[in-house]
Amino acid sequence: MEENRDQWGSRLGFILATIGSAVGLGNIWRFSYQAYENGGGAFLFPYIFALITAGIPLLLLEMGFGFFTRNSAPSSFRKVKEKFEWVGWWSVLVAFTVTVYYIVIIAWSLLFVFESFSLGWTADPEGFFFGEFLGFSGSAFTLGGIQWKIFFALLAVWIINYVIIAGGVEKGIEKASKIFMPLLALMVLIIVLRGVTLPGAMEGVKAFVTPDFSKILDFNIWVGAYGQIFFTLSLGFGIMIAYSSYLPKKSDVVKNGIIAGLANSIFSIVVGFGVFGVLGYMAQQQGVEIADVATSGIGLAFIAFPKAINLLPGLPQLFGFAFFFSLTIAGLSSSISLIESVVSSLIDNFSLSRKKAVTLVSIVGFILGVPMVTQGGLAILDIVDHFVNIFGLLLVGLIEMLILSYAFDLDKIKDNMNASSDLHVGNGWKAMIKFIAPVFIGIGFVQSTISELSTAYGGYPVSELMAFGWFVVALLVIAAVTIANNSKKRI
Ligand code: PHE
Ligand code: NA
Repeated sequence: MEENRDQWGSRLGFILATIGSAVGLGNIWRFSYQAYENGGGAFLFPYIFALITAGIPLLLLEMGFGFFTRNSAPSSFRKVKEKFEWVGWWSVLVAFTVTVYYIVIIAWSLLFVFESFSLGWTADPEGFFFGEFLGFSGSAFTLGGIQWKIFFALLAVWIINYVIIAGGVEKGIEKASKIFMPLLALMVLIIVLRGVTLPGAMEGVKAFVTPDFSKILDFNIWVGAYGQIFFTLSLGFGIMIAYSSYLPKKSDVVKNGIIAGLANSIFSIVVGFGVFGVLGYMAQQQGVEIADVATSGIGLAFIAFPKAINLLPGLPQLFGFAFFFSLTIAGLSSSISLIESVVSSLIDNFSLSRKKAVTLVSIVGFILGVPMVTQGGLAILDIVDHFVNIFGLLLVGLIEMLILSYAFDLDKIKDNMNASSDLHVGNGWKAMIKFIAPVFIGIGFVQSTISELSTAYGGYPVSELMAFGWFVVALLVIAAVTIANNSKKRI
């Protein structure tokens, strides 16, 4: 196994693939709004605090763990103790679930790349997105009415992923990352330069960065910053464990991890200037306040931005292209990492070939995505995303930290990665993993659970939340335990 295990071809390749995983849709459509809402420039305090006390330490923990075991998540946890193998499968199944809907959003982005040429949304971007494009019914239970364009785009995105991952770690993922990441940087440069030079842009940028220190006295904002760290650094998915298991023995894990962790945040902040520049311009054109146009997530990307693009002087098509193409690439480089987490676990535990494993994952993943391209798709996607974030990665991440801290010896991971690194992690790192991060993340988890039980998320009917929320997250745990029980017999 060890002998023919895939390996990264170069340090740069590994770093680019890791940054590719971390930098995703969330960096483009979530961070800037989160900062704007939670104190603007003052949000940098909780954000950087969470990055230093949880983000980078946990990134190094997952990397160090995979580097130590040289295995994907399930077998890595099995090496800790047999009974923990299911935790690894759980993180892998969470990754798989996220893949299913994440790829649907990449498919939308890809279609919007083409819409940019004709500005197909021009008359009414909101009506276009919900109506003509999604055909959204408003209910998760409307499983009829496949949107064929999205269906084929979904298929295309799966095929792209398939080809890259089937190519292997070095010839597939690494090569793709070396193309995607410079392209992404170029697209983002276009967006930001155009964004901040528009009339009114500075008002937007001001709204993004002006510190409001009253907000950061709110404890919830600190807890929220911790929650966001998992998603933004792709932690709790078994990804960094798998990616680091492919490192050559003499790698500088600590430096690589710090570079990737910082690059992800720098990217978010830089994009924030572009996003708020554009929102500032739009507000000025429409004679409204920034608050009236600022949003995040799907609404920002597929409604607010198209509206702004309509108003742009010069070549709006070019800007639209740069924006949706960057979403597509940022999404793809993340989805390959999600799929690789699943694929590497199947290879390690069921002695499948890479090709067979990717084929299996792609077919099942595509089929499970089909309900999300029907008229109820948006609701399904939204509910699954919400629940998996809390009862998937946040909880997995917390349990992961506790297991590695208290049922394993952090020193083994620490000494192993220090041995081949210039920069060293020490007792400070251990304290973050053992105490500080679990406390903040634990509080965040309890708060989220309470709010889940007291108010129906997004105003959805309870039956829909049961079917696509609670049922899905429970199923993931049951499936993880079942798979763990069956894989053991094979090895
Ligand atoms: N880190 C990505 C983002 O910020 C999200 C992601 C999580 C992507 C896990 C892949 C895997 O958008
Ligand atoms: Na990110």
